[in-house]
Amino acid sequence: MYTNWEELKQECMLCNKCELGKTRTNLVFGKGNENAEVMFIGEGPGENEDLQGEPFVGRSGKLLDSMLACIDLDRNKNIYIANMVKCRPPKNRDPLPAEQDICINWLREQVRLMRPKIIVCLGRISAQRLISPDFKVTQQHGQFIDKKGTLFMGTFHPAALLRNPNNKPAAFDDFMALRDKINEICERTY
Ligand code: URA
Repeated sequence: MYTNWEELKQECMLCNKCELGKTRTNLVFGKGNENAEVMFIGEGPGENEDLQGEPFVGRSGKLLDSMLACIDLDRNKNIYIANMVKCRPPKNRDPLPAEQDICINWLREQVRLMRPKIIVCLGRISAQRLISPDFKVTQQHGQFIDKKGTLFMGTFHPAALLRNPNNKPAAFDDFMALRDKINEICERTY
């Protein structure tokens, strides 16, 4: 258990608890406002993120930033972005359950220190791990689920939207619903 972000980050940056630590260029701890009320959680770093040490900086990150901007959210101001695993899985394969089991402890500490009101799961990997194991993004996206006082919502992963732009309108609807929910329950975001 960590008492502050500085301590947590310092320790996490040295992590070698799983095989992914051996092949990473940079560990991607997370980015944003550590006092945010809204946290976004993706899957894991890709090539660009591994090279730059920041989440969602490639093509899918650009799309994510533009969707965030539509509802006045900005990783440099009022949200925080993290991933299920902090090191890039080789060839961008899905992180293995064992890798997630180890890495989720860092994420738990981030959530514990931040105490976000809303957690948005970007894509299947984080939604199935954090909301429910049988979560179907295409069927359950945009629904808010209360878990011990924190609201969770799953939506499309931006990389999936790049592959299948037909889902963009549905994803934008989810972001509009998110904006409404923030207006309803958050005090410092807008
Ligand atoms: N995809 C993710 O899930 N996370 C990133 O940080 C980049 C791409």
